Amino acid sequence: MKTPRHKISGRPTPSREIAELRVRAADAEETLRAIRANEVDTVLVAGKRGDQVFTLQGAEHAYRVLIESMNEGALTLTADKVILYANQCFAKMVKCPLEQVTGNSFRRFLSAEDRATLRPLIKRADQSGTKIQVLLNACDGSQMPVQISIRRLAKNGFNHAPVGLVVTDMTEARRNEEMLRALTHRVVQVQEAERGRVALELHDDITQLLCAVLFRSQALADKISARDGPAKKEAMKLREMLGQTAKEVERISSNLRPSVLDQLGLVAVLRDTSTEFAHRTGVPVKLACVQLTARLPADTELALYRILQEALKNVEKHARARHVAVRLTQQGSFIQLAVTDDGIGFDHPVRQKGKGGLGLLGMRERATYVGGTLKVSSVRRAGTEIEVRIPLPSDATAAIK
Ligand SMILES: Nc1ncnc2c1ncn2[C@@H]1O[C@H](COP(=O)(O)OP(=O)(O)OP(=O)(O)O)[C@@H](O)[C@H]1O
Ligand SMILES: [Mg+2]
Repeated sequence: MKTPRHKISGRPTPSREIAELRVRAADAEETLRAIRANEVDTVLVAGKRGDQVFTLQGAEHAYRVLIESMNEGALTLTADKVILYANQCFAKMVKCPLEQVTGNSFRRFLSAEDRATLRPLIKRADQSGTKIQVLLNACDGSQMPVQISIRRLAKNGFNHAPVGLVVTDMTEARRNEEMLRALTHRVVQVQEAERGRVALELHDDITQLLCAVLFRSQALADKISARDGPAKKEAMKLREMLGQTAKEVERISSNLRPSVLDQLGLVAVLRDTSTEFAHRTGVPVKLACVQLTARLPADTELALYRILQEALKNVEKHARARHVAVRLTQQGSFIQLAVTDDGIGFDHPVRQKGKGGLGLLGMRERATYVGGTLKVSSVRRAGTEIEVRIPLPSDATAAIK
């Protein structure tokens, strides 16, 4: 219990009045600090009709009702992680009677790995709070994915101050994440199958037809006498344009087909894709690749190829870049592909997450599917870098020089 100490009696002089006011201000400040730090349960105020007692029980009661009605677990821990207080919701989460939760160690509900991750966070916790996702081990042996918000309950530097935890059940969120992942994966699979089908139709039907038309236009040009100059010129021009169209259709078809990888190998395909992009857009691409003495796993090669295609498509569509660099490197047991441009960058990379396009989502999904990660870094008006890191099996690591 804290009692403010502001009673200075006697006739006031100006300097004494100032001193008295200072003491009162200091008192008020200290009282407020103590109330905020939960060190006060009663305030005693000296008045004309004697001392008046104000208890803060009313306010505490409201907080208790709030915490007990929360759909999240709430706990206070000692510095040694002993549970001082837990609400009913937490007891339900760990499927344990509340009496057995209070006084127990919080570590009991965590795996050894999660304990090690949580230890420094609890030690360093301050009043601004940190968050972490762990698995909660319930008393019946089941597990629940949760997010824990950690906050020290008293002033910084107060080493033994209790720590407050809010524990949120993430089961539903995880399930939604998994569903979204499965859906995105399905989209990528369907996209791959559809690309293969379109590539086949382009190759087997359109290219065949174009070749036939090309052949006949050549025959027509040959039939037109050299004396009929403009008509012959026009027929030759037509033949040339048809030749270009057939080439373009073949290019699109081979871009759509993953089988192009089988014929050329990863490095050659990355080189072809970069060269074709540079020729078509006029934006030079600097390519640097590690030497591969053997093929990487087919899934990994396909993921890297598709990510490069998609990243270059984005450069063409959005970046307004003057240069592009493509680097394929080995980092320990990982293969890494980075596509960097010096364009306008994203408006705001975080906000882009919710924006309509499928490109970035598809790239991330392709990386995740082969156990890798994708990192997007973008600086406004300075450019963008897409970096994918994929782990390699040990025999594939040996294939990199
Ligand atoms: N290299 C880049 N430079 C600048 N902005 C980019 C770059 N890559 C992507 N963006 C931004 O990120 C957004 C999302 O890209 P994403 O590839 O996911 O979608 P999209 O290209 O708009 O559509 P889609 O790929 O489905 O055709 C883009 O709309 C663009 O604003
Ligand atoms: Mg895109």
